[in-house]
Amino acid sequence: SIKACLFDLDGVIVDTAKYHYLAWRELANDLGFDISLEQNERLKGISRMESLEIILSIGGVVLTEEEKLARAAEKNRRYLELCKQMTPGDTLPGVRRFMEELKSNRILLGLGSASKNATVILNSIDMLHYFDTIVDGNRLTRGKPDPQVFQLGAEDLGVGAEHCAVFEDAVAGIQSAKAAGMFAIGVGAPSVLTEADLVIPGFETFSYTDLH
Ligand code: G6P
Ligand code: MG
Repeated sequence: SIKACLFDLDGVIVDTAKYHYLAWRELANDLGFDISLEQNERLKGISRMESLEIILSIGGVVLTEEEKLARAAEKNRRYLELCKQMTPGDTLPGVRRFMEELKSNRILLGLGSASKNATVILNSIDMLHYFDTIVDGNRLTRGKPDPQVFQLGAEDLGVGAEHCAVFEDAVAGIQSAKAAGMFAIGVGAPSVLTEADLVIPGFETFSYTDLH
């Protein structure tokens, strides 16, 4: 039975995925190329510096380490600028209700995100208080698809992997959850999230009882 739910942040709790894409796209455009929505799928769940490497390889652009750090910092400034307009109303439909349901059924909640901005974002949508533990990009030494992010979350909560369900919108995140031995629920399109145990379009049509 499920005792803990681990949630990805971007694209699961809040639609920051569109802001990440906009900010990366601006960076690519500055360097003289573009990135498609399809190419953007490969960036979901991937750390800032790894994403930059993928984008540079798409554009065939070579930068020094110093330039890379400067570009990544610039992307993050743009991203946070876009995020400034976020309010609790930007929480994706059904998420808050679902988490309330989990809480009242004594299910533990964890965040498992590659983002270094996770607590800032959760605060701005007033969702930080739902979580019993936060695993974010500042704690990780290995990014998704490595299982570390969800293993740390389960460890913090004292729950075995077989009692954890993970909610993820990224291919790399589903792989991470599966590698950790957890039940992986994809949030998005079944055609993209082919390795998930179950795929849901969002939380509006999902409730605690569907976890059994
Ligand atoms: C999440 C997003 C990625 C993002 C990564 C790092 O996994 O899906 O698109 O690149 O976090 O986010 P950060 O906020 O630290 O740049
Ligand atoms: Mg995500």
